[in-house]
Amino acid sequence: LTFIAAAKIASSLPPTRYTEIAFAGRSNVGKSSLINSLTRQWHVARTSDKPGLTQTINFFTLGNQLCLVDLPGYGFAFAKDQVKENWEELVQEYVTSRPNLKRVCLLVDAKWGLKPRDQQLIQLMESSRTRYQIILTKTDLLPPLDLARRATQILQILKDHRSLIQPLIMVSSKSGAGLSHLRASLARVVSG
Ligand code: GTP
Ligand code: MG
Repeated sequence: LTFIAAAKIASSLPPTRYTEIAFAGRSNVGKSSLINSLTRQWHVARTSDKPGLTQTINFFTLGNQLCLVDLPGYGFAFAKDQVKENWEELVQEYVTSRPNLKRVCLLVDAKWGLKPRDQQLIQLMESSRTRYQIILTKTDLLPPLDLARRATQILQILKDHRSLIQPLIMVSSKSGAGLSHLRASLARVVSG
């Protein structure tokens, strides 16, 4: 996993050379941690227990085909309004208009479920026909029955959404649960 670029504004996105898979979701949901665990590289994508750590769109190439894209989180209450608006515009522009973006992994904390801000991003991806998949994170913190209920609830809410890639995948960056499943799913994006 090699870090290649950090973009703060749309004009500084790197060239569209690789297939891109992006990781989106609320601040602190575990995007950067998941990129690290998926690629078995600790701390290439910086993580923190303080929400709002990732403030640029960060691009990491994996081999010579694929680029994993770590997006800044939304819903981070402590940043200045102007800063928040800039991140949001950048993320929105990126997910709706990047030609080589083949999938967005929308991370949702298993404990909290879908929030209004997630739904907004989902609406945006539906209208731009961006294909996305829901990843339930931090599953190590929930009993299996609650997890199953959460998954059913989310799929019920999203049942008429056409750009949603089923099924939902449950992961824990901490225990490693679900990671091989997610890797296999992402490998299919690259192979076509
Ligand atoms: P922003 O960059 O602020 O948008 O956050 P992020 O989504 O990149 O979250 P990050 O990966 O930095 O993780 C946030 C916190 O959640 C850290 O304290 C992680 O250690 C913790 N965390 C991430 N994944 C897991 C998990 O699977 N289980 C548990 N228990 N904690 C996790
Ligand atoms: Mg992050």
